Amino acid sequence: MKLRDRSVAITGAAGFIGSNLADALVGSCELLLIDNLSSGRKANLARTLKGPRVRFVKQDLLGLGCARRSRGPTSSCTWRRTPT
Ligand SMILES: NC(=O)c1ccc[n+]([C@@H]2O[C@H](COP(=O)([O-])OP(=O)(O)OC[C@H]3O[C@@H](n4cnc5c(N)ncnc54)[C@H](O)[C@@H]3O)[C@@H](O)[C@H]2O)c1
Repeated sequence: MKLRDRSVAITGAAGFIGSNLADALVGSCELLLIDNLSSGRKANLARTLKGPRVRFVKQDLLGLGCARRSRGPTSSCTWRRTPT
């Protein structure tokens, strides 16, 4: 799957898997990084946050209904086309 011109949301972005995934994807697509920082650290994203088209949101996902609203595959990543 080509990621350029797509937006990718990564939940648990400040944790081990999320921060490494974000690091691998930065620069190739728009990234929305979501974490409540309950155990993850924003410092894990320090390099990624210097990249282009990256936004970090401190947000607790519990009770948000994200999974129900997601149109993408049920994984920690939600894929959608970038709105034009
Ligand atoms: N160096 C290493 O090899 C290493 C280091 C750490 C972990 N691990 C492994 O990685 C795996 C765990 O990685 P992971 O990334 O799944 O877990 P993680 O605990 O590293 O990351 C989970 C992230 O989700 C966030 N989070 C938790 N609940 C949330 C909520 N309700 N809303 C928003 N954010 C929330 C936490 O703040 C955290 O940043 C384990 O298998 C562990 O053994 C390996």
